[in-house]
Amino acid sequence: LVAAFQHKVLEGRRVLITAGPTFEPIDPVRGITNLSSGKMGYAVARAAREAGAEVTLVSGPTALPTPHGVRRIDVLTAQQMHDAVMAGVGGQHVFIGVAAVADWRVANASGQKIKKAEDGGAPQLEFVQNADILASVAATTSLSGWPYCVGFAAESENLMAYGAAKREKKGIPLLVGNIGPQTFGQDDNTIILFDESGHTVLPRADKLSLARQLVSEIAKRLEQRSL
Ligand code: CTP
Ligand code: CA
Repeated sequence: LVAAFQHKVLEGRRVLITAGPTFEPIDPVRGITNLSSGKMGYAVARAAREAGAEVTLVSGPTALPTPHGVRRIDVLTAQQMHDAVMAGVGGQHVFIGVAAVADWRVANASGQKIKKAEDGGAPQLEFVQNADILASVAATTSLSGWPYCVGFAAESENLMAYGAAKREKKGIPLLVGNIGPQTFGQDDNTIILFDESGHTVLPRADKLSLARQLVSEIAKRLEQRSL
């Protein structure tokens, strides 16, 4: 009912969203992931769709149903997420990076299942940094002016200082901060929006209502941009 009466503030807009964790293989049956449930990203996808947008959701492994009317592309690794995003970013008006993308992948992943060593030794994993998806999208924005880029950051301390600094470093107009890892897997959250004029706190609420508030904040900023 709420959804039906919402203003279609993103009507005619195309929105690309990443959500969930990524999974970085160690061997064909094992890997490294993180505690992201995907709930926040899926809520943002649902809210953007309710607001009339054409929504594409690039999702790492989650146990969540696809929000109604949303096109979903499933990926496993950060590299696959990067490739799916870059293949789909043309013509998008908004990019929202909600995914908890692994910062590293295993450089020496094994093609076969690693067997336990007789001498009790453990495998030596080496890591290499993954490409920054949000930074890659932000680089395309500096060429065409689109898409409007929104980042998410979960910080375990100093959220105010780290949030503002991360927005600047990423070169994006809007960064959403939350205190992690407490929010991972929960149904509610507190978020702080950082933009060029400072910050706005959206007090603790369920993730869907925060997602709707975020969508209306993004729509407001798109409006201001096109004036
Ligand atoms: N992000 C991304 N690709 C990556 C890493 C992060 O697109 N390889 C995006 C996330 O989806 C999020 C934003 O960047 O929107 C911030 O992620 P975060 O992990 O907080 O920032 P990092 O730049 O990775 O910095 P750090 O983890 O060192 O704090
Ligand atoms: Ca990171």
